[in-house]
Amino acid sequence: MDRKIYLDNASTTYVSQEVLNEMMPCFNVLYGNAGSIHSFGRTAMSIVDKARDRIREGINAQKSTEIYFTSGGTEADNLAILGVAHAYAEKGKHIITSQIEHHAVLNACKQLEKEGYEVTYLPVDKSGLVSLPDLLHSIRKDTILISIMSVNNEVGTIQNIKSIAKIAHDYGIFFHTDAVQAIGQVKIDVQDMEIDLLSLSAHKIHGPKGVGALYVKSGIKFEPITYGGNQERNMRSGTENVPGIAGLGKAVELATKNYIITNRKLKIIRDYFLEKLAEKVEYYQINGHPYQKSNAIVNISFYGIEGEALLMLLDLSGICVSTGSACTSKSLLPSHVLEAMHLPKDIAQGSIRFSFGTNISKADVDYVVEELAKAVAKLRAISPIQAGRI
Ligand SMILES: Cc1ncc(COP(=O)(O)O)c(C=O)c1O
Repeated sequence: MDRKIYLDNASTTYVSQEVLNEMMPCFNVLYGNAGSIHSFGRTAMSIVDKARDRIREGINAQKSTEIYFTSGGTEADNLAILGVAHAYAEKGKHIITSQIEHHAVLNACKQLEKEGYEVTYLPVDKSGLVSLPDLLHSIRKDTILISIMSVNNEVGTIQNIKSIAKIAHDYGIFFHTDAVQAIGQVKIDVQDMEIDLLSLSAHKIHGPKGVGALYVKSGIKFEPITYGGNQERNMRSGTENVPGIAGLGKAVELATKNYIITNRKLKIIRDYFLEKLAEKVEYYQINGHPYQKSNAIVNISFYGIEGEALLMLLDLSGICVSTGSACTSKSLLPSHVLEAMHLPKDIAQGSIRFSFGTNISKADVDYVVEELAKAVAKLRAISPIQAGRI
């Protein structure tokens, strides 16, 4: 079976030709160290500055100096949470986040708990939304930071970011959002949405792996989490990954400029998939918000079967999907996101995440649904649980 259909774009994406074109000269022609004073160094720094400016424009930040390059979304989340918590420890030691955040946020918060901070992990409803009254009730005098992701990576639910940011500011609290899955999916305007800190990553938007950025509104203090040669205005030491940064800048530019057209294409293909699925497969549920969600991500629980077994059968047919977020997909633990959404364990364990790219055709979808229907029927035939009875 030679056919390969990649439906795991929330995990990572291919690097687009435009992004590659931007990066390639940085490897062997314009390869200076951005910290060097000579012409090679100045050229490298101008590439970094151009990328910073593209990101500023893409998210409508006020100044390009509000953008700090990191090694990806994980480091951006860590830098935001640990950085702000450490800088404002004297003001308070309470942080609010949600139970469905990526582990880059959750584990940074766990680290803070070890350091004596207190963290409230807000629950979500069954569609994956944080409740605003819950958020209001959890605010304390010593709350310094609220961190809520823009788009969930497993189910695609889009949070009410603007309202959450407004609540945070009404109480003098900083607001951070992990927008790793949001860039290119929803419009991000940090000024209009009153976002103080925002994390993004290149490899989810057709950029390279291992590079990301943190936006920090000017005037907000944060402490570095790495120490070294004082790059990135002392906030993130380490020689700048010039090719990666050039790729990130281009990827953000393309993702933010093209998001309306990308979304339209993704919606058409996602809706076609759901329509075909309804024709060919029975007994399943779609997880996440019914409409306030990313067009790229569809999370489905197939009753009476194990998601891992289904993933493996699909893989044999050349179809790549995922059972949970990328970094936890090798563990058999039920997804913390589906658990927080109150999905019974057996239903959560039958869940698969399909995440689409604009390169998927209707013919690809026909093939996927065909193979999916066969795989589901095969697994149900040997399953002790009767899917129809769930
Ligand atoms: C919502 C979210 N945040 C953070 C990350 C981590 O980003 P990176 O892989 O660039 O470290 C991911 C990646 O899966 C993600 O989906």
